[in-house]
Amino acid sequence: MKQETVLLLACMKNLPDVQIMQTETIHWLKRTSESTPITFSELDVLRQVLRFHEMRYYVQHDPLISDAEYDQLFNLLLQTETVHPEWITSDSPSQRVGPGLVKDFPKVHHLVPMLSLQNSYSVDDLRDWDKRVRSLSASEDIEYCIEPKFDGASISLIYKDDLLERGATRGDGSVGDDITANIKRIKTLPLQAAFSKHQIEQIEIRGEVLMSKTVFERYNQSLTEAGLAPLANPRNAAAGTLRIKDAAEVSRRNLEAFVYHVSYVQATPGTESDNLLHTHSGNVQLLWDLGFRSPVKELKVVHGIEDVIQHVQDFEQHRDALPYEIDGMVIKVNNLQMQDQLGMTSHHPRWAIAYKFKARQATSKLLDVTYQVGRTGAVTPVAKIQPVQVGGVTVSSISIHNADYIKEKDLKLGDTILIERSGDVIPQVVKSFAELRTGDEKEIVFPTHCPECGDALYRPEEEAVWRCVNINCNAQVVERIIHFVGKDTMDIRHLGESNIRKFYELGLLHDIPGIYTLDYEAIRQMEGMGEKSVAKLQEAIEESKTRPLYRFIYALGIRYVGETTAKTLAQQIRHIDDLAGMDEAQLMAFEDIGVKVAGSIVQFFRNQDNMQMIRRLEALGIRLEQEERLPVSGELSGKTFLFTGTLSSMKRSEAEALVEAQGGKLLGSVSNKLNYLIIGEDAGSKLEKAKKIPSILIITENDFLKMLPS
Ligand code: IVH
Repeated sequence: MKQETVLLLACMKNLPDVQIMQTETIHWLKRTSESTPITFSELDVLRQVLRFHEMRYYVQHDPLISDAEYDQLFNLLLQTETVHPEWITSDSPSQRVGPGLVKDFPKVHHLVPMLSLQNSYSVDDLRDWDKRVRSLSASEDIEYCIEPKFDGASISLIYKDDLLERGATRGDGSVGDDITANIKRIKTLPLQAAFSKHQIEQIEIRGEVLMSKTVFERYNQSLTEAGLAPLANPRNAAAGTLRIKDAAEVSRRNLEAFVYHVSYVQATPGTESDNLLHTHSGNVQLLWDLGFRSPVKELKVVHGIEDVIQHVQDFEQHRDALPYEIDGMVIKVNNLQMQDQLGMTSHHPRWAIAYKFKARQATSKLLDVTYQVGRTGAVTPVAKIQPVQVGGVTVSSISIHNADYIKEKDLKLGDTILIERSGDVIPQVVKSFAELRTGDEKEIVFPTHCPECGDALYRPEEEAVWRCVNINCNAQVVERIIHFVGKDTMDIRHLGESNIRKFYELGLLHDIPGIYTLDYEAIRQMEGMGEKSVAKLQEAIEESKTRPLYRFIYALGIRYVGETTAKTLAQQIRHIDDLAGMDEAQLMAFEDIGVKVAGSIVQFFRNQDNMQMIRRLEALGIRLEQEERLPVSGELSGKTFLFTGTLSSMKRSEAEALVEAQGGKLLGSVSNKLNYLIIGEDAGSKLEKAKKIPSILIITENDFLKMLPS
């Protein structure tokens, strides 16, 4: 079928061509498992289907098929063109590396085109590839390097005369976006590296920018708290961050990068630097030695494909233990001369192949939506979906966050949806397939009343979340108790969620102070509650009475006060009453406490119910004051410190712990009590304020490190 025929068909059937393309896609995916030869005119339709999916992926960022399905179709094209090279057209998707540029950034040419990798999904694919490598290189003993296939955004870096000169996205493979300013904010990339020591004048390096799983989770949490939709995976977060027009924000997002390939080297005239570079593993080591994060520790050199297979299968088992996402392994011929000899197609090098792990995306059906009420009264819609396996886990329900999210993702009951579970990160809906609707789908209608207590829901202005504002709503009370006893809060083991719910239903527990007046006699009578487990429960509850003050503050469940804020607050006070007596202005003088958080704290302590609860807890023997700490004597004794801006060698919490370990005291704001202000990158108003107080010494991170004992 020719292009015109497809379009004509679309007109005749009065169907949007997206639907025609979907039908064609299903047809061609079936063809990939059949052996019927493809005719000349059929091949043209396959090319159109591939172009359509490239457009959806690269231009619209809204793919309709998985990467693996795209690869199946692409391989079918390659196979057919290999059998019939005379059918290759210059505009065939096999002849280029794909679109993907974004407006707004200057365009730059890569010194060497950034190619893709050939993908493989089975060990047989790897064996076939190895056979080809051996025949093309006329060698039986091939040394292979195996390294992770980092799942982020690829970048190309140019260092000239030892300085990072340019950083760019992959773009269409030949031309990318110049994102140098953002690249410079990635701490694992040196701005200067001693290439000249190796007689290298100019070098082009490839790598991958990643957002670690923990940073991603925290980032998604901050999006959700701000009432925004979370992102589906760390890859999107990394790629999106690289395109932000505010480099300071890029710093805050804490991206990381691995470099794994040298694409071009220019030796200092009169020298022969490339003599140094014989192997891929040597390049990776050289980059590491020069201060880059390259996969030195993650790289394995083996002989022969069977050892490759063994290693990739072993590694897949450890995938979840890594702090970042990988979507497979890359196998590369180690010898660079042999790489040259093998060369490349217009799409990928012949000396490398990617072995893709099991996909973590799956399609399912949205069957129903239920609504959960959280401890702050937020009503969260949860989609019940047709159970589906994603990355080894069965997913049957998935949060769809809030009413705006439902609108943004265009979700309807009965929709086919694409879901993704990135590593240990909570599954997310990637998209719905509006194209596959039959007309029977139903709107998701958000409730107007609390599903638990029936009170009318309320949506504060500028928030995406509907809330139940009845603080006595059963669901909220139970959730608040669950939060109070959690691992990161008062850590009361043996009082898990199910026990709390049971006790609450039986009337044995009504509120947080009730934890400390439980009727153990009654609990002993309950099924499954032996003497021993009751004793353990009693012990755990008793033990929780002397938790550090920050845990108690966090356990109170004040809106916007997470663990970090609780720690900041606890550092500034002796007793919880000190905090209860502060106003917004006093709170906002502390590090990272803005108007929203300060307002929420003041509101919490103004509420008489909350104060009564605190007094009851105090009467029950819960410690509400700072543990008496013996003053540590050390290099920093008697001095006061405050950090501002982003530190480059460690996290702020780590630097603060160093101050305390050396007997120094941390302050929350700039005042004339402050001795040292340590400034990191993008230091802001605190620096300006400190400049006005002559007694404050403003020092850099390096100066600070020098103050510590070695
Ligand atoms: S080598 C000329 N090594 O995967 C070959 N690529 O799907 C250069 N990728 O565009 C690529 N980890 O962005 C190579 N260890 C690794 C990789 C890797 C991730 C990315 C890279 C490439 C894409 C192809």
